[in-house]
Amino acid sequence: MVSVTYSGQMEDVLTETKKEKLESIHRGLYAKEGAGSEFLGWLDWPSGLSQEFLDQIKQTAEQIRSQADVLIVIGIGGSYLGAKAVIEALQPHFEKNPEFEVIFAGHQVSGAYLKQLMAYVDDKEVALNVISKSGTTTEPALAFRFLQQYMQERYGADAASRIYVTTDENKGALLTLAKEQGYKRFVVPDDVGGRYSVFTAVGLLPIAAAGFDVERLISGAKAAEEELKTFGEDNPAIRYAAIRHSLYEQGYTNEVLATFEPKLNFVQEWWKQLFGESEGKEGKGIFPVSVVYTTDLHSLGQYIQDGKRNLFESFLVVEETDEDLEVFEADNNLDQLNYLSGLSLHDFNLTAYKGVSEAHLNGGVPQVGIHVNQMDEYHVGYLLYFYMLSCAYSAYLLEINPFNQPGVEDYKTAIFRLLNKPGY
Ligand code: PA5
Repeated sequence: MVSVTYSGQMEDVLTETKKEKLESIHRGLYAKEGAGSEFLGWLDWPSGLSQEFLDQIKQTAEQIRSQADVLIVIGIGGSYLGAKAVIEALQPHFEKNPEFEVIFAGHQVSGAYLKQLMAYVDDKEVALNVISKSGTTTEPALAFRFLQQYMQERYGADAASRIYVTTDENKGALLTLAKEQGYKRFVVPDDVGGRYSVFTAVGLLPIAAAGFDVERLISGAKAAEEELKTFGEDNPAIRYAAIRHSLYEQGYTNEVLATFEPKLNFVQEWWKQLFGESEGKEGKGIFPVSVVYTTDLHSLGQYIQDGKRNLFESFLVVEETDEDLEVFEADNNLDQLNYLSGLSLHDFNLTAYKGVSEAHLNGGVPQVGIHVNQMDEYHVGYLLYFYMLSCAYSAYLLEINPFNQPGVEDYKTAIFRLLNKPGY
């Protein structure tokens, strides 16, 4: 379902030593041992999901769609990127869904954004889904303070029936608030961290509300869980982790995730958070960057071809597309493009991939290919699970706990001190 290719100088990405290390990581992972193992709930989450839970998600999504024209999803980091990635990958470029929109908030602090958002939804029926595992994150909490007041002013006592909260089962300010106000609640499981939570209610409720088939998404993730749990050199999750780590050992400390499909832009953002927050610790880790081609061939392409040689490129290649255009023969050929007649734009991109990959390889940039057949719920589910699993292997190869993020506390402390937050 996902295959991984490699081209570069390195002959053997899986040395005997690395293979042994990966085998031991594999044993530890599935025995749920090792650093951060209390956050391994995502590993067998897809197969453990009950039909009852999926039905509850679908019914709530239906209820939201029947009461509102817009769902505002409030969250940041892992509490927003998974849903955003899946929705962007699946929805059309224009006229997203004229009858129902999902809009994100609380993922930055912009007064203009919030003010304009409230003005934009003023002539529409609105529902809110506030998502925060800790229930204490400042950006979504601030956005919710404004939007909750907006809902109460607009809907009075009925506001409560339009607000849905996804948070921890037992703790956090958001939980206290939700209980107090009687909001419908969904749980972020204790053993699943934010960036691994797309298949929990965190991702599923907004995705279902956007009108996508969450059962197909979960079947894709389930297939990945089943197929990728066997240890072997051909296991794409293990292969991708092994290639990344071998390149890292040779000084390739930056990975550029490239795609020719602009709809995958937020899959790239999700991937950056997953790998960046999981691996970038203790002075180690590959720095994840992303580009969309051919757009960025006219900007970062120069650096990638010719700049400092410490980066490798991984292409996310979608093999098939269901919508396309074919270049037609023009009578006058004034634009001199008739040599492309008969070629589809998708084929143009697949050829561009080969050409760019060859040129960058010749320029000293090792090439990894992550190939997926198509972009639908099933394949997106498979792909995201593949990345999460590979990320765990990859971080463990660096002897890093993939599931914590101690570094993000430092900037928070600095901001809180400047804002005179009590206790800082
Ligand atoms: O991956 C993570 O754990 C983080 O990116 C969190 O998702 C992010 O900080 C938001 O946290 P919370 O859901 O507690 O508001």
